[in-house]
Amino acid sequence: MGEHELFLEGLTREQALKLAEAARHGAAAVAPPQGGRSPVESATGGGSVVARATAAPATASPLPVLPASYDELRAAALTCTRCRLSETRTQVVFSDGVIDARLVVVGEAPGANEDETGLPFVGAAGKYLDLLLSSVGLSREDSVYICNVLKCRPPGNRNPMEDEIEACSPFLKKQLELIRPQALLAVGSFASQLLTGSGKVALGKLRGEVHSYEGVPLVCTYHPAALLRNPKWTRSFWDDLQLLRNLLDSA
Ligand code: URA
Repeated sequence: MGEHELFLEGLTREQALKLAEAARHGAAAVAPPQGGRSPVESATGGGSVVARATAAPATASPLPVLPASYDELRAAALTCTRCRLSETRTQVVFSDGVIDARLVVVGEAPGANEDETGLPFVGAAGKYLDLLLSSVGLSREDSVYICNVLKCRPPGNRNPMEDEIEACSPFLKKQLELIRPQALLAVGSFASQLLTGSGKVALGKLRGEVHSYEGVPLVCTYHPAALLRNPKWTRSFWDDLQLLRNLLDSA
């Protein structure tokens, strides 16, 4: 399969062989343009190889081919139909910011504004996040890459479901592997629990210390939308940002 990584969970041997055969004979398709792109992503050019898409299954189907290059990974995500969210999204929200980022911020899932624009964290919570990051000298223009656990909006902004996280997280894991930041900031419970691998541990117990994700220092903190609802958590968020800033200063 060359440079591609296989995701074969749930496939019979026969199905796996068929997929390998299809890939060998050019089952990959050119991804149609979709979604808002950050200036950096636009500058890096469009991707090309994607898994062949059919009707969205009720639950996650195996992702047969996970591309190894950033542009191909993005192209694959933009046409993904691995879970039910592909049926209700307007567009896939892959990322914003720079791909040579020092920091990757991981949120939960796109909301209405993000679904409309194709960019993560562009609503009120996103603007607040940008403001808080700028207070420690970080911005998506030069040092930060932002993405979410889920790349598609859950209808009505409901919480992500477990099978949706399972279907989508290979994209996030590959993004992190390709970006290789000096530090990670998980905002909110879903990103924090996924990246720490801590199951259902409360966010209050995860924040305030440095974890490790595949060797990359990871700080967990409150979601900016939660701060807007509960300003009393802003002090804790601020402390977590200082922790993060110190990490980057000593990297
Ligand atoms: N909340 C998130 O977690 N991500 C977004 O992109 C927007 C709001």
